[in-house]
Amino acid sequence: MSATPPFPSRVTGRVSAARLADTLGSWRTGGPRSGGNDLADALTALVHDGRLPPGIRLPPERELAAALGVSRTMIGAALGRLRDRGLIASRQGAGSWTAAPPGVRGDTTGLPGGSGLINLARASPAAVPGLLPAFEAARRSMRDALHDETYDDLGIPSLRERLAARYTARGLPTAPSEIMITNGAHHGFVLALHLLAGPGDRVLVEQPGYPHAFAAIAAARAHPVPVPVDPFTAPAWDIDGIEATVRQTAPRLAYLMVDFHNPTGRRLDAAGRERLGAVLSATRTYTVVDESAVDLDLSHPTDRTDGDAPPPLAAFAPRWTITVGSPAKSHWGGLRIGWIRAPRELIDRLGERRVSLDLGSPLFEQLWLSELLADPAAPHVPTRRRELRERRDALAAALRAECPDWTFRLPDGGVSLWCRLPSPIGSRLVAAAEQHGVLLAPGAHFGVQDQLERWLRLPFTQPPDRLRDAVGRIAAARESLTGTS
Ligand SMILES: Cc1ncc(COP(=O)(O)O)c(C=O)c1O
Repeated sequence: MSATPPFPSRVTGRVSAARLADTLGSWRTGGPRSGGNDLADALTALVHDGRLPPGIRLPPERELAAALGVSRTMIGAALGRLRDRGLIASRQGAGSWTAAPPGVRGDTTGLPGGSGLINLARASPAAVPGLLPAFEAARRSMRDALHDETYDDLGIPSLRERLAARYTARGLPTAPSEIMITNGAHHGFVLALHLLAGPGDRVLVEQPGYPHAFAAIAAARAHPVPVPVDPFTAPAWDIDGIEATVRQTAPRLAYLMVDFHNPTGRRLDAAGRERLGAVLSATRTYTVVDESAVDLDLSHPTDRTDGDAPPPLAAFAPRWTITVGSPAKSHWGGLRIGWIRAPRELIDRLGERRVSLDLGSPLFEQLWLSELLADPAAPHVPTRRRELRERRDALAAALRAECPDWTFRLPDGGVSLWCRLPSPIGSRLVAAAEQHGVLLAPGAHFGVQDQLERWLRLPFTQPPDRLRDAVGRIAAARESLTGTS
């Protein structure tokens, strides 16, 4: 891994010595003689969890040494290690800059045979089997569409009708005019965020929570206000605590995942939704409910569980909720299609706001999704549940065998296990795991403050054999830290 990454065509930013020292926090974990190592590991963790993205120029060694109160020799040694790991490059006179972590540039899906890099930093399953007949049907409908002179800004009618019917069947009466098609659930959240919150506004979020939502909130220069989701308690959401936080901080928007929350996999029951809906309505808090995992109920052996699913949170606060959804987890993320369900007045405002960003979603992918949803029995969903249940159970069994002192609650649904580690080694474990061929996202990635060093998210979106292989490597990586943790 010692090949020098090329100087990036565009250095996208720089970080000051004071800021970097601040972000590093208490980076020393060993004794006085392991300073260079500790610093290299702490910087590695920042690159891996995205807090030091590629293309960032690092401060001069002299300034960093002064900000950290260490010698220049130690800084030189730490940067040398980062160079060996392929995480930074340097040029005489030009300084040092961060590069993309090795493996992130190339194939990161994990290679068969256990020899390649296994990417558990992402939680996107490959396409569920059986999507091609709908693709062919969409291709046939495309022939007629080619004669149309225009397109529908809010999405094609057949898809909006099918999505509206699904909400109605789940207990939330919905008209097609209350649906807008987007380029994914995340796009739906970002549209709502830009409509309803601006710089300096507060946005209530769950912690742990979805890192890309945190990134969008930061990019909008809004401030996240975290409320905890506890993987071990019932209910996982503290509704009284949420009410107190909302009343105290008056957020302009809330962003919640009450159906198989990412990363804990917890679901809020109907009684909890009723209480939460009442809080949101009483405080007039606009809330984006991210339902991207709603179909992934893994708690039922028959894989057909919708009969006992609680109604959407929007049914308890219809005026204040903007529900975003997507087939990315249930079918395939490569479709890049999602939707928003909201009151008509909000859909109209979102549509007006959207024209400053784009003018609608691609027709073919909408036709494809519409074909996939044509059968109300949703035949692909039980297949996906079966696949994920098998993978979840394989991952859980491997962890219990190889890392018996890690604790987790078997998730009711979703795509990941949220593991509590016996000590705060998350970032160092992530760095060590990469040396063993596994890319991981550290727990800190899932928090708005850097508090989740004791946690690790492990997605179960890959086949059982690859997950078992990954756990073996993670256990070896953890072993390599023994004595320093
Ligand atoms: C909670 C959550 N929301 C949104 C997304 C992204 O959804 P989409 O691909 O539809 O934009 C993901 C994907 O990982 C997710 O976990």
